[in-house]
Amino acid sequence: MKICCIGAGYVGGPTMAMIAHKSDKHIVTVVDINQARIDAWNSDTLPIFEPGLDEIVKQARGKNLFFSTEVDTAIREADIIFISVNTPTKTYGMGVGRAADLTFIEKCARQIAAVAEDDKIVVEKSTLPVRTAASIKRILEANSNGRNFQILSNPEFLAEGTAVSDLENPDRVLIGGDQTPAGLEAIQTLVDVYAEWVPREKILTTNLWSSELSKLTANAFLAQRISSINAISALCEATGANVDEVAHAVGTDSRIGPKFLKSSVGFGGSCFQKDILNLVYLCEHFGLPEVAKYWNGVIEMNDYQKRRFGSRVISSMFNTVAGKKIAVLGFAFKKDTNDTRESAAIYVCKDLLGENAELTIYDPEVSESQIRYDLDLSAEDTSVTVCDDAYTATKDAHAILILTEWDEFKALDFQRIHDGMELPAFLFDGRNLLDLEALRKIGFEATGIGQGE
Ligand code: UDX
Ligand code: ADP
Repeated sequence: MKICCIGAGYVGGPTMAMIAHKSDKHIVTVVDINQARIDAWNSDTLPIFEPGLDEIVKQARGKNLFFSTEVDTAIREADIIFISVNTPTKTYGMGVGRAADLTFIEKCARQIAAVAEDDKIVVEKSTLPVRTAASIKRILEANSNGRNFQILSNPEFLAEGTAVSDLENPDRVLIGGDQTPAGLEAIQTLVDVYAEWVPREKILTTNLWSSELSKLTANAFLAQRISSINAISALCEATGANVDEVAHAVGTDSRIGPKFLKSSVGFGGSCFQKDILNLVYLCEHFGLPEVAKYWNGVIEMNDYQKRRFGSRVISSMFNTVAGKKIAVLGFAFKKDTNDTRESAAIYVCKDLLGENAELTIYDPEVSESQIRYDLDLSAEDTSVTVCDDAYTATKDAHAILILTEWDEFKALDFQRIHDGMELPAFLFDGRNLLDLEALRKIGFEATGIGQGE
């Protein structure tokens, strides 16, 4: 099978690397219009940091895994074309701030229609609004010239930071397609690709719309759990309960389960907010305002949590952070990734900069240029200093904010850090990563999320 994937991002790159790694029967070419990104995929320093990814890419690259900017050639030669381009929230026009921007998807569909010379299976990998497959199909069919295009939906459920193990051992693979003989045949072709390593009973097949909607729903449910526990965290702080203890007690109910109940400074990442906004927009479009309002609450609670964290920092520090040095440890939206999209750190840092705080930021994987870009700061702006390690970042600081749960923060010498700080030394643990009791013993004014007095 010749497989092409348009879009060499956080989803396309790792997913295609795994397909190539698992079966040398398939020739997999990942294409992108971004030359720098393709160059990085072909280099020793991959464009994304993901544990375990280097090994599988290096093992398959040049054998049956290729990265290229030759989009037309890859489309022409492929039997299966995955579309894995970005679908950001719209920043203009109708549905601004909520609907998904499908410009990149439509461009791909038109390019496939223009270039393909024979029948193709086109697979939506990007997360899309329900019924997008219908639009792709119309574009392809309007230009088919006798060629047969089958559209499948195969949403990706991998989480960043654990992408390789999620791909290797998925809870399920979902494939939606037309329930016609040709559609079912296309579904079977894609099932066979995954069946190289995924047990058959974990490969679910559905109609197109169920598959598209399942992805949005899964992300909405996961985000809803975080917003639910974060809502309770505010009540814990007011009442003296401890949110970790509450989450544990609640999560031991087998009907609820323990995962995604970790209270935090707020969820980030490229998916949760975007997908829920998209779901909300769809509900409104289909005349379901009550359903839209229900899901929008998940976003509102997340925004509240991010704002609440910043407010708590300011109020604890005698209601002013102006001119104070605040060390921010962690900028990525979660550990084990260099991705900062929608990271809670961006919102918290902007709020504190708005109060004229001086920030020293350290993240093990996020670059200075990315941090400055995310905070809308020029290279000359001195309100933020990006440091190479946590000790430099915390030196002479009035407060430390833990915003990403990197393992290395647990191993820091906090006595040494405390000795180098202004007193009283505040520590706000936005991830409940550290032993607050032990920190208090060495003199920190330490608070976590949802930790009552
Ligand atoms: C998510 C989905 O998990 C994945 O299935 C989908 O394909 C893409 O979106 P991702 O955004 O990469 O994956 O990471 P995830 O682990 O879900 O974390 C999202 C955000 O929620 C992070 O900011 C994380 O820190 C936060 N989170 C997660 C919590 O605050 N508490 C939790 O209990 C879990
Ligand atoms: P995701 O997290 O969904 O993988 P990314 O933004 O990381 O999203 O990756 C999407 C990639 O798709 C980007 O590298 C972008 O350059 C690429 N892309 C967007 N449109 C096209 C297109 N028409 N042809 C080829 N690549 C594209």
